[in-house]
Amino acid sequence: MGAYADAYRTSLTDPSAFWKAAAHDLEWYRRPATVLDDSAAPFYRWFPDGVLNTCFNAVDRHVRAGRGDQAAIEYDSPVTDTRRTLTYRELQDQVARFAGVLRHLGVDRGDRVVIYLPMVPEAVVAMLACARLGAVHSVVFGGFAPRELAARIDHARPKVLVTASCGIEVKRVIEYLPIVEQALGLATHTPASVVLLQRPQARATARPGRDVDWHAALSEAEPVDCVPVAATDPLYILYTSGTTARPKGVVRDNGGHAVALRWSMRHVYDTHQGETMWTASDIGWVVGHSYIVYGPLLAGCTSVLYEGKPVGTPDAGAFWRVAAEHRVKTMFTAPTAFRAIRRADPAGALLDGYDLSELRYLFLAGERLDPDTYAWARERLGIPVVDHWWQTETGWPVAANPMGLEPLEPRPGSATVPMPGYDVRVVDDDGRPAREGQIVIKLPLPPGTLPTLWQDDERYVASYLTTHPGHYLTGDGGYVDDDGYLFVMGRTDDVINVAGHRLSTGAIEQVLAAHAAVAECAVIGVADQLKGQVPRALVVLKAGAAADDLDAELKALVRERIGGIAALSRVDVVAALPKTRSGKVLRKTMRGLADGADEPVPATIEDPAVLDALREILRA
Ligand code: COA
Ligand code: AMP
Repeated sequence: MGAYADAYRTSLTDPSAFWKAAAHDLEWYRRPATVLDDSAAPFYRWFPDGVLNTCFNAVDRHVRAGRGDQAAIEYDSPVTDTRRTLTYRELQDQVARFAGVLRHLGVDRGDRVVIYLPMVPEAVVAMLACARLGAVHSVVFGGFAPRELAARIDHARPKVLVTASCGIEVKRVIEYLPIVEQALGLATHTPASVVLLQRPQARATARPGRDVDWHAALSEAEPVDCVPVAATDPLYILYTSGTTARPKGVVRDNGGHAVALRWSMRHVYDTHQGETMWTASDIGWVVGHSYIVYGPLLAGCTSVLYEGKPVGTPDAGAFWRVAAEHRVKTMFTAPTAFRAIRRADPAGALLDGYDLSELRYLFLAGERLDPDTYAWARERLGIPVVDHWWQTETGWPVAANPMGLEPLEPRPGSATVPMPGYDVRVVDDDGRPAREGQIVIKLPLPPGTLPTLWQDDERYVASYLTTHPGHYLTGDGGYVDDDGYLFVMGRTDDVINVAGHRLSTGAIEQVLAAHAAVAECAVIGVADQLKGQVPRALVVLKAGAAADDLDAELKALVRERIGGIAALSRVDVVAALPKTRSGKVLRKTMRGLADGADEPVPATIEDPAVLDALREILRA
């Protein structure tokens, strides 16, 4: 039996033995005697009596072991023309002092801190400082508009909000403080303090009494030591899109998370102490949490923090420059980034002149990796290109090619095989095993996955555990081939994936429905060559309402309420929306038609003529 099959089998037949061994890679204040507590199923707890600190394992431990001079973070920012290295010792110093700042502002174990920062080293420092105190961070992606930030502030109820004066996009500098002010105006909860990082590209006017200057506070702060926390204590909340407009607060615990990420760095990413990993994503997404910050640092690697884009900063050779200059071994990004590079430089001519001899792997996730992009990347780079599948909820790969355990023969279009601890099944709507259908995971989920949703056990159970009792519903559909390879084909719900950003069509619909002229609307994700999917809207007007300027108004409304990442590709005014007899809008059928599929007319349709009238529009 191969190493993968052996590990996978043990992880399912004897999960306690498997994860107990994995837990040895961490340093605990109290090593867990119990590995899995299933007494309150379906709420499972990993390492319930273990005590540790995630920041200690990610930072202090390496300094103490004599690796303080190794680079922990390589900040590379073409948008500000800056490069800065933070060694583990410097990172420890800044984190300990920023923990001092937070403690001085009243942040204690269990308190929440919202972090709304661009891709700067201070974002990593702020996250780790929370971990150091046993506080709970909630990072909000910088591309979200004030209303989205407000919803997260109200839900997490932070004591402190950490932000910067600006973020920098390809075409413009985005001032953050006005966004924060608006969000605080919309929110009912008010954090006691705002820590403000001033950036030279746009300085903000601080509000005395509320705002604390990052640099001034840090220079005066007393360093604070790591606080021992229970393995089951929350490390962070990360909001993600569900099928409704209300984001879901995915909770990550300390112990299971650290154990699983540490395991994945070695066995999935084959990336080890002293080696360099570059995840070109954003700390606002789970990919950034796990593989820009915690994974590489727990493993004692160097992590590249890139404030730039695949194209436009300055060109489609940017990724090759960064990979070469930082001697990156393992690179991770979303397929959309590679599609953007390929579109700008189809022959890969910009690769010339860069020494990529250190680059061993390209990992891709966040959306389906289309076989074309796979083949292009594989040919141009000549290294293994690894498609792997996971979600905010799982925190680390559900399916991958375990390069550090046993590299398997890849199959284009497949995320390869389930990782240890994930008992992946494919079922039909009634929960019966099926060749193709909904992908579910038999409980318990492995360490590192969500134990619940923030202060909402009920929603956790209703969203994930009720459709197929005893199983976690991934929301993705697909199939397993005869050799056990998993093919993930796309969401089975109303979540869409735009340029690797997960969005809810329900949230966009809620914004459109607020427009005075709109009686009814449906948003669907349609295929797009660059972004994978883009949102498209069909609206029914109120009687007598005018449609002049509606297209522009609705597009502007979505940008204003959610953010540019959710920009509508197209708005069509239609006479009616196709529905089932029970009133459910037939989004899936419309999506299929828009993507050129030969969709059958559902037997439950209320009025087939409504769908017929839309065929032409959807195919346009
Ligand atoms: N802060 C503020 N605004 C942001 C932002 C951020 N962090 N990220 C994106 N936006 C804005 C962009 O400026 C853009 O605004 P505009 O329409 O006014 O120009 C809008 O949101 C849409 O951005 P994006 O979806 O990124 O599209 P794009 O056409 O600018 O770029 C790609 C397309 C493919 C190059 C880009 O999406 C990309 O680099 N993707 C990588 C994917 C990724 O990292 N995914 C994370 C999960 S792994
Ligand atoms: P997020 O929670 O933002 O990471 O988005 C998770 C979703 O992205 C999954 O549920 C999938 O729909 C999609 N996804 C992520 N990785 C892959 C992949 N390798 N193949 C197919 N879909 C993916």
